[in-house]
Amino acid sequence: MATSLGIRGAFFDFIDDPWRHVGREYEAARFLADGLLVVEDGKITDFGDHGDVSRRHRALDVTHIRDRLIMPGFIDGHIHFPQTRVIGAFGEQLLPWLQRWIFPEELKYQDRDYARGAARRFFDNLLASGTTTAQAFTTSSPVATEELFDEATRRNMRLIAGLTGIDRLAPAEYMRSADLFYADSKQLIARYHRQGRNLYAITPRFALGATEALLAACQRLKQEHPDCWVNTHISEDRAEVREVREVHPGCADYLAIYEKYGLTGPRFTGGHGVWLSDDEFHRLAASGSAISFCPCANLFLGAGLFRLGRATDPRSRVRLSWGTDVGGGNRFSMLGVLDEAYKVGMCNASALEGHPDEAARNKVSPYRGFWSITLGGAEGLYIDHLVGNFTPGKEADFVVLDWNGGPSHQAWRQSLMADEAGPRTMEQAADLLFGIMMVGDDRAVDETWVMGQQLYKKG
Ligand code: GUN
Ligand code: ZN
Repeated sequence: MATSLGIRGAFFDFIDDPWRHVGREYEAARFLADGLLVVEDGKITDFGDHGDVSRRHRALDVTHIRDRLIMPGFIDGHIHFPQTRVIGAFGEQLLPWLQRWIFPEELKYQDRDYARGAARRFFDNLLASGTTTAQAFTTSSPVATEELFDEATRRNMRLIAGLTGIDRLAPAEYMRSADLFYADSKQLIARYHRQGRNLYAITPRFALGATEALLAACQRLKQEHPDCWVNTHISEDRAEVREVREVHPGCADYLAIYEKYGLTGPRFTGGHGVWLSDDEFHRLAASGSAISFCPCANLFLGAGLFRLGRATDPRSRVRLSWGTDVGGGNRFSMLGVLDEAYKVGMCNASALEGHPDEAARNKVSPYRGFWSITLGGAEGLYIDHLVGNFTPGKEADFVVLDWNGGPSHQAWRQSLMADEAGPRTMEQAADLLFGIMMVGDDRAVDETWVMGQQLYKKG
C-alpha cells in the first residue's frame, strides 16, 4: 500500500526562469496562499489550490502548516564535505589557504571514524539550512566518498558526489596517481551511481591540481560512463588562472583544458568562473555546461566578483547552480548565498554604467534568487526532472520558512510587507522572501522535509 500524505499551507515555487521575464518576473513563479501538496511514497502526486485538490483526495491525512512559506528544498551546487570543520579559517587567498588549512584537514578523512562522524554533521548542517540536494567534493581517499554516500543513503537525500582527484600541488600524502584515481573511481561508480538517490560525479579537483595523466583518466571515465556528472573548479582566483597556463601550456584558456579532455557539456559543472572570458562564457553556453556561482567563497577568499549579468545574457545563457562552497564559503546556508549574491550583483551593476541591460541582469530579486537555489539549480545540475519545484512526479523535498525567524529587528521590517496573518499575494510573499534573504538568516528554516518525511525541525 502506498503511503499518502497531504501538506496544506502557503506555497511558493517556480515554473520558469525569471531572467526570461524581465519586468514581469512573477510570471515565472507560482504562489498559492492556501495550497495542498499530495505526496505518495515520497513523490508529489498532486498540487494546487486546497479547494480543488482536496476534492480529489477526500480521505487524505493532511498536515496543516500555518504562518509559514513552503518552498522546494534548496540546492547547493558546490560544497566541500571535508571542509565542514575548517569553515571560516582566517586570512588567506585560495592557493595558500588550500595548503595551510584545507589539505591538512582533508587528510584526516582517510580515517573512517572521522569521516563518518563528519558526514553526520555535514548532513545535519545541510538540513538545518534547508538544503535537500547537494553536489559535493570529497577527498582523494575513497573512504571519505564512501562515508558521504552511505550517510546520504541513510537519510534518503539526493547527492551528486565523487572521489576528488589531485596529483599535483598538494602534499605527497594527499595526492593519488592517475591510475589509482581511475581504479578507485570505477569501483565507486559501480557501487553508488544511481543507487537510490545517489549520482556520481567524476571529480578532478581543478586543472591546476591535475597532470595530463589525471585529466586523461577523467576522460576515460567519462567515455566509459557517459551518464556520470563531472564536477570541478574553474577560473576562481587570479593566481590560479595565471599558474594553470604554465601547467597546461597548449590550452588557450582555462576552459580549453576541460574541453581538451572531453569533460564539458551537459552535467559538467565548473565552480566559480570569476575570471572567465566572454569567449569562455559563450562556449559554456553553447555546450550546455554549467558554472556554480559561489559568492560567499568569492568574497571570503577575495577571489573577485562573478559576472552574473554576463552569465545570464539571453544571447548565450549559461546554466548556473549556486553554491556555498563551504569551507571557502563561510556559511552552510543558501540564504546566506543569496545575501552575498545580491551584494556581488549590486557591485557589478554599479560598475556597468554604460551597459544598462547587463547591469540590470545583475540584480538578484527574490524571484531570481529563490529560483536560482531551487528550480534553476536543478536545471544547472540537470536534475530538474527530479527536484526543484512542486510539479507532480518530482520528489517531495521541501523547506518550511518562517519569515520572522531571524534577528529581532526582522519582524517589524516584515510587517511592512504583509499582514501578520501572512502573505495574500505573490508580491507580498516575494517581499517577505527578500526580507528573509537580506535581513534574516538560516533561522528562517523551521522544517526541512525529504521525500515526504520531516528530517529537521528547528529546536
Ligand atoms: N580549488 C581547488 N580546490 C578548492 C577548494 O577546496 N575550494 C575552493 N574554493 N577552490 C578550490
Ligand atoms: Zn570549491
